[in-house]
Amino acid sequence: MNTLAQKKLLVGVTGGIAAYKSPDLVRRLRERGAEVRVVMTAAAREFITPLTLQAVSGQPVRTDLFDPAAEAAMGHIELARWADAIVVAPATADFIARLAHGRADDLLSTVCLATRTRLLVAPAMNQQMWAAAATQANVEVLRQRGVRVLGPDTGAQACGEVGPGRLPAPDELAAAIAAQFTAPRFAGVRVVVTAGPTREPVDPVRYITNRSSGKMGYAVAEAFAGAGAEVTLVSGPAQLPAPAGVALVKVETAEEMAAAVRAAIDGAQVFVGAAAVADYRPAEVAGQKIKKTAETMTLALTRTPDILASVAMRTPRPFVVGFAAETERIVENARTKLERKNLDMIAANDVSLPGLGFDSEENALRVIWKTGEANLPAARKHELARGLVELIGDRYFENRVENS
Ligand code: CTP
Repeated sequence: MNTLAQKKLLVGVTGGIAAYKSPDLVRRLRERGAEVRVVMTAAAREFITPLTLQAVSGQPVRTDLFDPAAEAAMGHIELARWADAIVVAPATADFIARLAHGRADDLLSTVCLATRTRLLVAPAMNQQMWAAAATQANVEVLRQRGVRVLGPDTGAQACGEVGPGRLPAPDELAAAIAAQFTAPRFAGVRVVVTAGPTREPVDPVRYITNRSSGKMGYAVAEAFAGAGAEVTLVSGPAQLPAPAGVALVKVETAEEMAAAVRAAIDGAQVFVGAAAVADYRPAEVAGQKIKKTAETMTLALTRTPDILASVAMRTPRPFVVGFAAETERIVENARTKLERKNLDMIAANDVSLPGLGFDSEENALRVIWKTGEANLPAARKHELARGLVELIGDRYFENRVENS
């Protein structure tokens, strides 16, 4: 049984005959460990009483937007922020229409509008109302906004008709709700990751490179794939196997890496620049091996394209995450880089610490974004990458709700 331990669920009950199943749903959700609060619409109270839902949820039931006592205890905006998910079950055709139009004329619709959290609706209505073009169009609008639609089931209806429109059984619904928390978080999300060093040729046998092993970038690509994302990994020369389920594009130089990123970036929602891209390359590549004729030699270098910054300048742009290898004033330098390159997030590591960073198995990261930061303490790179992907998810999905 999928757990809902420590999950805070707001159950919205709207006015259809299937509301008689809502108390059972609340019980099933609590059995799985969820903390449940209930908001009822006025129409829902025509079918069941708030007292019933109060008894099964163990919490006072909210019904009115303008209730001074309830607002003083937990205001509607607070309620919207409190929930890890809002589940409207049953959701009538009328409520779905109101949700699709962004109405905020009662407590439940207001809370749905004021939340950043995931919204699930379980439609229940007469099969003809479900099939109506208006309802189908409204449901499509909600789906496109990321609202998850659970059901409806098909079968005999309270009105005597047979067809789609039944609220799924409470235990099935509770299982479907729990599955929302375990489903891969990045399913359907396209991610491009760069990794490894680049090699900038001097002549046919020599090149300039750096000590990056590519381990961190490969681990990030693997963690995204594990979280359900569709991942393209653009890698400089690294001695690592392709992570399972990841499309690997191998390149040598910074120019080649920039071209491979340009080819992969259209339609990507997240970009992570974990490569240690050479900042300079030899201005001229000698056609033949350079002979040691002089006592000293000077190599003219020229800047390479900044791949990360150019991805961040695109419109539309993906969620852009950079890395910063620093040896001093880690957070300060990383924050400056975040702003200068217009990034959404930057993961900084202190490469001066022994045993961490570039060529090692372990790393530690300070992850910084505009409004906050987090510390990912020293751990193996795979573990660290999973932590980073979680943090990216928190910010990415929050921004997506804000922008939708
Ligand atoms: N990066 C990039 N293309 C480059 C150079 C860097 O995409 N040509 C990306 C790296 O993948 C990494 C981030 O930019 O995500 C590192 O930023 P950068 O400013 O290059 O760091 P430093 O080289 O340390 O910069 P500075 O010398 O300014 O500290």
